[in-house]
Amino acid sequence: NQPIWIGLLGFGTVGSGTLRILENRLEDIARRLGRPVKVKKVLVRDVTKPRALPIDPGLLTDNPAEILEDPEISIIVELMGGIHPALEYIKTALSSGKNVVTANKDLMAIHGRELFALAEAKGLDLEFEASVAGGIPIIRPLKVCLAGNQIEDIKGIINGTTNFILTKMTQEGSDFSEVLKEAQALGYAEADPTADVEGLDAARKLAILASIAFNTRITLNDVYVEGITKISARDIQYASQMGYTIKLLGIAKETQGKVEARVHPAMIPNSHPLASVNDAFNAIFVKGDAVGETMFYGRGAGDMPTGSAVVGDIIDVARNIINGHTGRLSCTCYHQKPIKSIGEVEGK
Ligand code: NDP
Ligand code: HSE
Repeated sequence: NQPIWIGLLGFGTVGSGTLRILENRLEDIARRLGRPVKVKKVLVRDVTKPRALPIDPGLLTDNPAEILEDPEISIIVELMGGIHPALEYIKTALSSGKNVVTANKDLMAIHGRELFALAEAKGLDLEFEASVAGGIPIIRPLKVCLAGNQIEDIKGIINGTTNFILTKMTQEGSDFSEVLKEAQALGYAEADPTADVEGLDAARKLAILASIAFNTRITLNDVYVEGITKISARDIQYASQMGYTIKLLGIAKETQGKVEARVHPAMIPNSHPLASVNDAFNAIFVKGDAVGETMFYGRGAGDMPTGSAVVGDIIDVARNIINGHTGRLSCTCYHQKPIKSIGEVEGK
């Protein structure tokens, strides 16, 4: 009963959460699939660096070829972040017949289309559930469960770091830069936290969600973006006195045949469920013509929640490998719909 072998690229916050879940659930996963799923090698920059999660040093390598050229490895799990060399590694993996799971929204928001095309041409899976909203299932629900709907709009809190900062500023009067440091220590923030606080991380996620929901191709450049760096303690105090809470929202909708997407801070009435989404939690409302309003809520960042989404994708891909029908659900066919220019975006 041969294992399905995985090559992990990256062993930081998400990589260690993913390995921990795979190890904790090893027997259960093997029972579900009829074959064990195991990590064969883990790529890092520095093999000598102390690791928060104990790992067999023999698993670590700083040589990508040891993973990408290993014919036994059939799933590459990219958890390094950034565009380069993640893009090249994923292309090499797909070109050589390996399925890919990634949590990299930066990469998927910019290069998703060419990577889907490559995966589709090769009949391989390319899964990316963890790239939006950490542990919350949202990509697959949009691709599959809500596919019978015409989506009217998507709106929600899709960045854990900024929600953590705004929550602490609101509830404890904490200082912005101190809370940002806390969010970094907890593993919520991106390697460069500017992407979080300036709204770019949320914009990347919104571009991914809107592309799937509206079956078009929204890139980062199509999203109006404003972060939280200009929000002061006084803004929060005034909002509170008026019965509002300030949250960073991502909003995408289709009106009169055109799609628009925007990320910016918004005043939410305290009676609205989004006002009570605190800490690194995320919440996304999706409204479809058949289903009406749905809400997806949970932990939007961190090692174990994000690892949960990654492992879900790994199990799905492993199941496809076993059943011999890879590449069925992973590729979204984008049609080009009109997209509002940033200047046309309403309410910014
Ligand atoms: P970390 O910075 O914690 O970990 C990155 C890992 O990748 C490290 O182990 C690092 O090696 C390795 N790495 C980076 N660059 C290279 C390289 N060029 N060659 C070899 N190894 C490399 O990142 P996270 O785990 O936080 O994030 C990983 C991905 O998951 C990102 O795309 C992020 O956007 C996404 N994500 C993160 C979430 C979170 O809560 N943190 C949630 C959802 C998605 P070394 O350890 O030696 O430095
Ligand atoms: N930096 C991201 C956040 C990680 O804070 O939401 C999860 O994608």
